[in-house]
Amino acid sequence: MSAPDRIEEFVLALQTAFIDGSITRLKLGGYHGPEAELKGIEARKVLLNAGERLSFVYRYKTRDITKNLTVDEAMSFVRSGLSGEYRSARIETTDYDLQFERQGDKYRLKKTEVTGRDAVEASHDRAKNRPLASGGKVWMKALGLAGADGKILAASQDKFRQINKMVEIFAPLIQELSPDHPRIVDMGAGKGYLDFALADHFKRTATRAEIYGVELRPQLVEDGNRLAQESGFSNLHFVPGSILDYDATGADTVIALHACDTATDDAIYQGIRAGAELIAVAPCCHKQVRRQMEEGTADTRLDFLLRHGTFLEKQAEMVTDGLRALLLEASGYRTKVFEFVSDAHTPKNNLIVAQKGRAGSREAAMRRVGEVKAMFGIEKHYLEGLLGV
Ligand SMILES: C[S@@+](CC[C@H](N)C(=O)[O-])C[C@H]1O[C@@H](n2cnc3c(N)ncnc32)[C@H](O)[C@@H]1O
Repeated sequence: MSAPDRIEEFVLALQTAFIDGSITRLKLGGYHGPEAELKGIEARKVLLNAGERLSFVYRYKTRDITKNLTVDEAMSFVRSGLSGEYRSARIETTDYDLQFERQGDKYRLKKTEVTGRDAVEASHDRAKNRPLASGGKVWMKALGLAGADGKILAASQDKFRQINKMVEIFAPLIQELSPDHPRIVDMGAGKGYLDFALADHFKRTATRAEIYGVELRPQLVEDGNRLAQESGFSNLHFVPGSILDYDATGADTVIALHACDTATDDAIYQGIRAGAELIAVAPCCHKQVRRQMEEGTADTRLDFLLRHGTFLEKQAEMVTDGLRALLLEASGYRTKVFEFVSDAHTPKNNLIVAQKGRAGSREAAMRRVGEVKAMFGIEKHYLEGLLGV
């Protein structure tokens, strides 16, 4: 791997750990620039009114200076710092440490797994930084998240944690979109937990954004629109109908949370077709690909896994989402898949986040799609059919 690749890998790890919330600390050292008194830099993730930032503390001999950067700004800073004035850096996350060292023209990247750091630091930070700290809102009570006393109900803690996490992940990504009044479309919105949470957060942070929740069930749409009005969210709208029939023209962000089976693909397709800057889906069941894998035409070397129902189920899930990520890449998106909450809170905890911008060639991604399908005995992924590839 070349020197720039190692820096890029470090910077991508920083972005992923920032977005999935696993970062606990970033350190830059080995400074040999013009500021004689600068000893090093440490950064942590913080939640400000403007959204999530990395708070950089520049440690000088006699004073500290703090600068809060968006993740994109932080990535540019680290990228140029590691090829210039800083010889070492370290990302500490809940799961691993990643150490970068540069000596002359030799670059080294070392990853060390860690355990036991998560529970203490991350949950402490998260509780403090939750974007939806209060349970007393009209919409929280109406959606059954909070009781009459305004406290989050014990039975709703998991749901509350999930939507907090979603807001933590999406709000900064949405705020970094190019338009200053983004149009966000949530496909398969259900009761609209996430949409109310986003509307609430945007109102509190004075972020201009229009949110549309598309939902098949008319009663949920009616209830959602009434509650949006009662909550004073004039920028939140629920729209009846199917994902594929919705006119997503002009959508900057397309989200789908646990939209059933191929409804997730409908949402991805609509995002790609609209040219959305950001597409983020947390898939639900994965029946379409699993049925084809069950037909038994996979590479026989995979028999030792696929003959066990439980492994087949898990493989089908990974293969379905892995192919979704590749098809997004083929369509001009940089894609990441990560767990947005621990599986103790929901087993459907993977999030595919795709940001517009080419990561590799379309041909290479499509070639990989073909190889994966052949390996697992899949004739066609439903999303391929929608994309006409
Ligand atoms: C499991 S619920 C998730 C709801 C919500 N996103 C959440 O996470 O709380 C899936 C929702 O998607 C809706 N849905 C499924 N397929 C759809 C489609 N093709 N078009 C529109 N809505 C759909 C269902 O009616 C249901 O309300």
